[in-house]
Amino acid sequence: MGLFKLLPLLFISFSAATILQNGQIRPNDYRNTTVTARDLSSEPAWVSYPPDAPELSYKGRWDHQYISWWSAPGLKFGFEADSVAISFGNYTSDGVLIAYRVDGQDWLLTNVTANSTHMLVGPRTEGNNLTHPSIHTFEMRVTNWAYGVQIKCVHVSGPAARLIHVPNFPRTMELIGDSLSAGQYATLEGISSYSWGLMYGLGNVEFSITAYPGICLHDKRCYGNLHGQTFQWLKTPDTSGRALEIYGDGPDIPDWDFESHPPADITVINIGTNDNNTANNVTHKDFHDSYIRLIDEVHVRWPASQIIVLSLWEGFGETDNMWIQGGGFVDIIQDVVRSYNNGSLNERGGEGFVHYFNTTGILQHNDIGPLYHPTDVGHIKLASHLMQYIKLTFGWVLDQTGPEVQHDTLYWNDQTSY
Ligand SMILES: *[C@@H]1O[C@H](CO)[C@@H](O)[C@H](O)[C@H]1NC(C)=O
Ligand SMILES: *[C@@H]1O[C@H](CO)[C@@H](O)[C@H](O)[C@H]1NC(C)=O
Ligand SMILES: *[C@@H]1O[C@H](CO)[C@@H](O)[C@H](O)[C@H]1NC(C)=O
Ligand SMILES: *[C@@H]1O[C@H](CO)[C@@H](O)[C@H](O)[C@H]1NC(C)=O
Ligand SMILES: *[C@@H]1O[C@H](CO)[C@@H](O)[C@H](O)[C@H]1NC(C)=O
Ligand SMILES: *[C@@H]1O[C@H](CO)[C@@H](O)[C@H](O)[C@H]1NC(C)=O
Ligand SMILES: *[C@@H]1O[C@H](CO)[C@@H](O)[C@H](O)[C@H]1NC(C)=O
Ligand SMILES: *[C@@H]1O[C@H](CO)[C@@H](O)[C@H](O)[C@H]1NC(C)=O
Ligand SMILES: *[C@@H]1O[C@H](CO)[C@@H](O)[C@H](O)[C@H]1NC(C)=O
Repeated sequence: MGLFKLLPLLFISFSAATILQNGQIRPNDYRNTTVTARDLSSEPAWVSYPPDAPELSYKGRWDHQYISWWSAPGLKFGFEADSVAISFGNYTSDGVLIAYRVDGQDWLLTNVTANSTHMLVGPRTEGNNLTHPSIHTFEMRVTNWAYGVQIKCVHVSGPAARLIHVPNFPRTMELIGDSLSAGQYATLEGISSYSWGLMYGLGNVEFSITAYPGICLHDKRCYGNLHGQTFQWLKTPDTSGRALEIYGDGPDIPDWDFESHPPADITVINIGTNDNNTANNVTHKDFHDSYIRLIDEVHVRWPASQIIVLSLWEGFGETDNMWIQGGGFVDIIQDVVRSYNNGSLNERGGEGFVHYFNTTGILQHNDIGPLYHPTDVGHIKLASHLMQYIKLTFGWVLDQTGPEVQHDTLYWNDQTSY
């Protein structure tokens, strides 16, 4: 057939891109939260916390300079205060979009920039209704996978204003992937991805999305990424241009400190779409051997982690008036899973710690957008199926029972009569 569209998971400049949402241009005039030193001095008595304050919890991968990496990294803390402001360091990407929320309120969005202070919670902040005295939770996430922030300071003001440490959730997950998992071309990128929908959506889960557009599994240059996941997953930063600028491509790339972070109970791997592309020239043998190597790397660090291997959906091709889903490395991926299960595919728990998740039949051709990545609806379908799989296979409870997970997905029919 040969009709299946190849996925060019290119590293495309997107800063001037227009985002269409149901055919309409999506407004991106997010609130301006920038404050000046003068604005701050109008608030009484700010208390400032340095980035290494024990009250601050970093989610996903951050380095020793408090610079965020990969997709949807976050910062979370409790506070008792009237106002919360954050100063961002000079390694913050220009105008990067962050989502933030107080307690279980809906996500708010604002662009932040290097070397600036943003008033994110205040008496006049829309969507906040702080009662006093009371402890609230603040959480922030970087939405884009290539951009990041650097935390310089967190400030609070009000009578006896303070930060409070929020303990980690008891469950931990990891998702290793490429652009499909990083949320490229989803409307809010990282926080519209299936990875986010799955792991934030399960609730009570700490998680990390170590996914980057264009990256291969096999360690070679793919679409401008200098390394594949067998190398990069062991590192703190991703393969972005800003990582290269800060750490170069050598011994200065910091290793991820697995010892100091809780092991993932469940690791989901969705990788290989870029290896399965003639542009990157990864051989079948290299792909197979690298997959075994990545699973071994995960297993040696997190011996108790259950690993879910996703089949690749590639694209859809039209044959005889019908759409048919493609697949990449279909047999190799199954062989890899079998090799950990004494010859069985282990689709529903059972033998070993490596499980096969068949993605065929979840997405239909119109769940893939014009740039070959899932639409927001496609992402939500993948997330929902994976949530249910994890519930049925590992007995995990669906613990997110109210607060918004996906933002800006409120489209519905309000016509009561025709
Ligand atoms: C946001 O507000 C700050 C301070 O008032 C101002 O300096 C800056 O130009 C504004 N940014 C945008 C994008 O409007
Ligand atoms: C950021 O600030 C640090 C220390 O203040 C300085 O050493 C570094 O060169 C700065 N980096 C950039 C990108 O401006
Ligand atoms: C805010 O972020 C969005 C999404 O990346 C971007 O489209 C928009 O241009 C940014 N706005 C500013 C003022 O930086
Ligand atoms: C950060 O901003 C301050 C004041 O706005 C300025 O003096 C300083 O040079 C800036 N630093 C960088 C690295 O841009
Ligand atoms: C804020 O909370 C108080 C107490 O729960 C409530 O009476 C009030 O209506 C709320 N205001 C807004 C704007 O939600
Ligand atoms: C992609 O995977 C298919 C098997 O599903 C295989 O036939 C094909 O050769 C692979 N293509 C590349 C470029 O690796
Ligand atoms: C792919 O690999 C083959 C064999 O090593 C080599 O001959 C060919 O030039 C490579 N193609 C590209 C595009 O790198
Ligand atoms: C596979 O079979 C061997 C030999 O019977 C056994 O020792 C091993 O535990 C089995 N592995 C799994 C994952 O069931
Ligand atoms: C995956 O699902 C598709 C659609 O149900 C089915 O045709 C295929 O055989 C399945 N693959 C495996 C390995 O179970």
